[in-house]
Amino acid sequence: MAEKRFPSGFKWGAATASYQVEGGIENNDWAEAAREGKVPPCGRACEHYERYEEDFDIAKSLGHNCHRLSIEWARIEPVEGRFDEREIEHYRKVLLALRARGLEPFITIWHFTLPLWFSRSGGFEREDAPRIFARYCAYVTGKLEDLCVHFSTMNEPMVFVSNGWARGTWPPFKKWPGIEYASITTSGRTINPQSKLGFGNIIRYVSVMHRLVRAHNAAYDAIKKMCPDAEVGIVKQVILYQANANPINWILAWVMNRFWTYYFMSRVIAKCDVVGLNYYLHKKFGDRRVYDKTDMDWDVFPEGICTALMMLKRYKKPVYVSEAGVADAEDRIRAGYIRSTVKCIHFAIENGVDVRGYMYWSLLDNYEWASGFGPRFGLVEIDYSTQERRIRESAYVYKGICEGNALID
Ligand code: BGC
Repeated sequence: MAEKRFPSGFKWGAATASYQVEGGIENNDWAEAAREGKVPPCGRACEHYERYEEDFDIAKSLGHNCHRLSIEWARIEPVEGRFDEREIEHYRKVLLALRARGLEPFITIWHFTLPLWFSRSGGFEREDAPRIFARYCAYVTGKLEDLCVHFSTMNEPMVFVSNGWARGTWPPFKKWPGIEYASITTSGRTINPQSKLGFGNIIRYVSVMHRLVRAHNAAYDAIKKMCPDAEVGIVKQVILYQANANPINWILAWVMNRFWTYYFMSRVIAKCDVVGLNYYLHKKFGDRRVYDKTDMDWDVFPEGICTALMMLKRYKKPVYVSEAGVADAEDRIRAGYIRSTVKCIHFAIENGVDVRGYMYWSLLDNYEWASGFGPRFGLVEIDYSTQERRIRESAYVYKGICEGNALID
């Protein structure tokens, strides 16, 4: 048995996102979509808005030393340009609760959901969206920087634009003609029949993608102007495209990696102090291997994170694995998935990638977007009828790794 030891100070923890766990949010685009019957309702979710201390006690008891959370834009800026100090106060209490338990906070300033005033007026289709976004990001960072060092402006911009303007499964439900046959991301299982189909959406897709680039870059500048010491990055989902020996498949994989990962990253990397990697999905063109499946029907292939991390090496920035995890209600594969992920992170570090932490997705079972509350990603199971928390066995396997700062392989 070999011990794979991690650098001292390595961060171990789990991640959540505001809308998926907090509950009681009615003034964003997802809540509106739920009222219109386009996505499942989120309701009280895990009541994490009220129960965060209990949840952080659990994280601490599981050996975590960090936690990734997001700020709900609709709470902070419920009306355009008007910021709610009481909600800032709430998040300050949340950060204090983390720090009191020795959990280093990592904030994602925006994780998919938009305040209604913004989405109804066009959201990221608005020409001035980068300015609006940067103002919000700078405001949040200015109010919280004394309690937190690590900030990411946005989570998975390519997933956001692809589900919203290509697959039509997420707000604003716009899709490309023929997209059913060209599944480029796999969050959410069904194509929403109410989504608007049109060629114009291809143009909108490209322009929203570029506006997200500009929004991140503008936010970085605005934050740095106000808080030069804040560490600012972006969270990027890498879908790993690979191929068998067939040259056509090889070209396909090459193109898709450029399209999905490098195109966006190369446009924001100059304004990233660090990079957050979310890894879930891979696609190997020409591959006949039959994979075990998660409850999301995604291939179980944690090893792909090795290559995903090596892909980020070219940017020469510190990397946090800001998400990697499985939907696994029976807790059948989670422990093995975590161990493989950790082993790959260790391999990447040994091969020159400056990985500084791993945040398992997710601390709690939660609202899995268009798939509702069905999929269970949590280290902690939630009984939604009683809000009872139950720690899964796999969480203790992860605890051993976190506490030992090592994997015994
Ligand atoms: C997102 C999370 C989501 C998870 C599992 C990531 O795409 O950041 O919000 O729940 O993957 O699908």
